[in-house]
Amino acid sequence: MTMETVSVPLPGRAYDVVIGPDLIDRAGEFVSPLLRRPRVAVLTDQTVAGLHLKQLEAGLAADGISVVSLALPAGEATKSWPYLSQSVEWLLEQKIERADVVLALGGGVIGDLGGFAAAILRRGVRFVQIPTSLLAQVDSSVGGKTGINASHGKNLVGAFHQPSLVLADTALLSSLPARDFLAGYGEVVKYGLLGDAAFFEWLEQNGAALANGDLAARIEAVRHSVQMKADIVLRDETEQGDRALLNLGHTFCHALEAATGYGDRLLHGEGVAIGCVLAFELSARLGLCPQEDPSRVRAHLRAMGMKTDLADISGDLPDAAGLMALMGQDKKVVDGQLTFVLARGIGQAFVTSDVAQSAVLDVLNDALALRR
Ligand SMILES: NC(=O)c1ccc[n+]([C@@H]2O[C@H](COP(=O)([O-])OP(=O)(O)OC[C@H]3O[C@@H](n4cnc5c(N)ncnc54)[C@H](O)[C@@H]3O)[C@@H](O)[C@H]2O)c1
Repeated sequence: MTMETVSVPLPGRAYDVVIGPDLIDRAGEFVSPLLRRPRVAVLTDQTVAGLHLKQLEAGLAADGISVVSLALPAGEATKSWPYLSQSVEWLLEQKIERADVVLALGGGVIGDLGGFAAAILRRGVRFVQIPTSLLAQVDSSVGGKTGINASHGKNLVGAFHQPSLVLADTALLSSLPARDFLAGYGEVVKYGLLGDAAFFEWLEQNGAALANGDLAARIEAVRHSVQMKADIVLRDETEQGDRALLNLGHTFCHALEAATGYGDRLLHGEGVAIGCVLAFELSARLGLCPQEDPSRVRAHLRAMGMKTDLADISGDLPDAAGLMALMGQDKKVVDGQLTFVLARGIGQAFVTSDVAQSAVLDVLNDALALRR
């Protein structure tokens, strides 16, 4: 099976994203060139540790690298102050020095937390992302956004800290529960919708094979997504402009995640998928994109067995005004003005803060009406 490499040539902080099956068996070979001494610290979660830590340790031991590891509870609640402090104290206890390397083995939660711990440990040590969820392979492991959630909201504390290497082992995805796989697929679809209509078409044709475990299709989907993310990050590393396109669906998503408590009722990628449908509904209502685009987006997500509508979220939700208020908590709000990513068609997204509140309320009211 072919191995693919996407380069992220940021000046002074260039790194590779290596994509393919069974990479963790060869982790030592990839990581060795980064090491001053043959020793690494691995941060992971307990679920991933149970499934894949031994294999990673063996892959590192093959090149004489010794490993210390800390497995934290799985789940979004781990991306928080207590676990950040536990991780940093543990890294210090393990005498991880400035020239050492931290490995983050897990989904977006471990990647964000581990990356942030590395960013602040001794004012910054290097880290390697070994993303194990689809979401982490196509999105969170690339681009250098790291951080934790605060009581005021998601991702409100963090730093830009680029990894030194990303090893996206696509074989690891086979142990991912179907629901988590599809949540990650929400982010894959997002790339097609925001900037590449041909990729969206490819997903319409290959999505089913991807979900059913076709490894070649999975590698291609990860490679294409990572290349798109890398291109955007290169243009705008710290989100002064274009990088905001990656937030397609996220203004709606963050309000829905806040309303549902950042947990099992709605996974992040599920919220992104619903948010993308709402962003296209809003774009169509504003006369920006063809009327049939929202239905086409919804049809593909439905065919994949994904959530597409507010009606798919169990339990109570706030009313439209309540959801608007939650959007106002988004960290991308500038001078109280909400920012939206809208589209002129599939693959043609743009960022704007010039959206009438009444149009957003109309879209939300219609979407909420379908729940009754
Ligand atoms: N930094 C960024 O640019 C960025 C971008 C998008 C999302 N995120 C963040 O990513 C997080 C979501 O990431 P996620 O969906 O990976 O969540 P996650 O890390 O919680 O992983 C989801 C679940 O899958 C399990 N898991 C992971 N890999 C597995 C495997 N190979 N086999 C079996 N189980 C496995 C985990 O234990 C967890 O229970 C959110 O906190 C979000 O804010 C960050």
